[in-house]
Amino acid sequence: MPSLFIPIVLGTARRERQSEKVASYLFGELKRVEGIESEMIDVKEIMSGETVPPWVSNPNISFWKESAGRADGFIFVVPEYNHGYPGELKILLDSLYQEYAYKPVGIASVSAGYFGGARAVENLLPVLVNFSMYPLKQALYFPNIAEMFDENGGIKDTSYKKQTKEFFEELKKRALVMRGLRV
Ligand SMILES: Cc1cc2nc3c(=O)[nH]c(=O)nc-3n(C[C@H](O)[C@H](O)[C@H](O)COP(=O)(O)O)c2cc1C
Repeated sequence: MPSLFIPIVLGTARRERQSEKVASYLFGELKRVEGIESEMIDVKEIMSGETVPPWVSNPNISFWKESAGRADGFIFVVPEYNHGYPGELKILLDSLYQEYAYKPVGIASVSAGYFGGARAVENLLPVLVNFSMYPLKQALYFPNIAEMFDENGGIKDTSYKKQTKEFFEELKKRALVMRGLRV
């Protein structure tokens, strides 16, 4: 059976973004999971250039279209900005439609505060449902992000390794089932 393709989307273009550490951590951990291939997709790279309608003429969108089209699922790394998720992630999502249908999504949310981006997740969920995506019930929350990683990018709280493994397992299970639904 061919490997699943599950890209990780870094959902903010903010300078000095902490979310990059989370995306790198997840990318490293995902490499250990058998049967999944991944790549990092950075909204900052895709959104350079035109970011207002008709953004579909942005040539970088064709890269996203190709990746999203062949993806079996997605991981979105989403920081919380004023209880919402970044606008550039919304623009990225809005640039496609049918490529997302019947694909599971794992959300890894990030915040400086105590709640780990939970409010951004709540705002993102109905948008994903609109695209006929299937978000996992359980997001992976990264609170107090400035303290989470050491200077080498290692996660300080090792209990996250188990949570991350379970998150990937759930995503993989759904991705395998949904692959059958798309034929
Ligand atoms: C415009 C803006 C709004 C923010 N609003 C919130 C918020 O509502 N709740 C929260 O916990 N942190 C908030 N933060 C802090 C972010 O969670 C923090 O920047 C964190 O590092 C994750 O985002 P990053 O990847 O941009 O660094 C906000 C940050 C910015 C720049």
